[in-house]
Amino acid sequence: MILELPRKTEHLGAVRIHEVQRVYELDSGASKFPTKAKEAVATISNDEIERINQKMAIVVPIKDERLNLLEGVLSGIPHDCQVIIVSNSARSPVDRFQTEKQSIKEFNHFVDDKILLVHQQDPGISKAFRDAGFDSVLESGTVRGGKAEGMLVATLLGKMLGKEYLGFIDADNYIPGAVHEYVEIFAAGFTLAESPYSMVRVSWTHKPKIEDDRLFFPKWGRVSEVTNQCLNRLIESHTGFGTEIIKTGNAGEHALSMALADLLFYASGFAVETYEIVNILEQFGGLLPPTHPEVMSSGVDIFQIETRNPHLHEDKGEGHIDEMLLSSLGAIYNSPICSEKAKNNIASILAGRGLAKEGQEPPSPTKIEPAATLDLPRFVETIRRESQTLSEFGG
Ligand code: GDD
Repeated sequence: MILELPRKTEHLGAVRIHEVQRVYELDSGASKFPTKAKEAVATISNDEIERINQKMAIVVPIKDERLNLLEGVLSGIPHDCQVIIVSNSARSPVDRFQTEKQSIKEFNHFVDDKILLVHQQDPGISKAFRDAGFDSVLESGTVRGGKAEGMLVATLLGKMLGKEYLGFIDADNYIPGAVHEYVEIFAAGFTLAESPYSMVRVSWTHKPKIEDDRLFFPKWGRVSEVTNQCLNRLIESHTGFGTEIIKTGNAGEHALSMALADLLFYASGFAVETYEIVNILEQFGGLLPPTHPEVMSSGVDIFQIETRNPHLHEDKGEGHIDEMLLSSLGAIYNSPICSEKAKNNIASILAGRGLAKEGQEPPSPTKIEPAATLDLPRFVETIRRESQTLSEFGG
């Protein structure tokens, strides 16, 4: 892959937020070679990408998606990556989880990928959390529904497998080639990272839709445009310099080094991607007392890399958009690092959209404790013994 080197980086405490980087060429061949623009680009060889892929788990959270989409996503994930599918699909009246399992088994007959599948609300998983006293992911003793909760389960399973990197790819992606590109982007970002604490976020080139019977390629999603604006107002209220650095406030497709994933609080539901940035700033941005001094010396790298493939996924409707916006902005608003000015900006956006009344604060998302706080060997022992749905395929 040949991609642009970041042209600008915002520094907040130990956090380095790199500007969006363009991909120039998806496949740069087997070895490095000089380009005329060698100071401006990074050439990542296939060997380098494969080295990261072997250490990376790709997490596919799924809830009641169409099986053809899931199979397409699996077909786009490079064979060297471990796949972790955390499903929260219905068990009745139709057992959609069983159908997913069957379809993964059929697919894997031909490819022998390393796939781990589990249901998020498996009683054995809930018990393992209860026994560990890890209550922040539970509701009435059972793992809560929500993408972030699924991501936490996957983070722990990735840790159990000794993986060093975790990439998240939604199950409702239509284009397998785009999925393949996301994974290569993750690997390219981790190759460029200077710190073991790093995150790579995918910025879509376009999200195509049909408008007036024609294909239209808008640049920004309806939620991300607003979330990015609010995150940028938050950052500039601390640096004192206007910025548009954040372009990936809602990037469902993103990846974390395990060292970083281990330390982060995840925000419940759809606030998760926005809150990852906020929590990195809370913990390592130098605005609050540092929680992990060892991270402060290495720093945290946040890369944002723009795809060549368009992003085409299921459209879940207007109500869903409002829900995502409210939880994303609530995650920023309720942070202890959110300045009065940034809060006022969010309040007026929400009031303007009829999502909050004048003077009403957006809800603060429930926070899930970092994976590092859980006793992993004990957790693993319980799920190996008690899980009713954990299945391992291939490898
Ligand atoms: N395991 C699990 N558990 N997966 C879930 C759950 C759940 O409770 N709810 C949704 N998912 C899966 C979906 O099946 C899909 O693969 C992915 O998580 C994203 O959910 P969608 O409902 O498709 O969200 P979206 O695509 O409209 O929302 C986009 O923006 C959000 C807000 O930033 C995506 O990029 C999301 O990933 C993002 O959180």
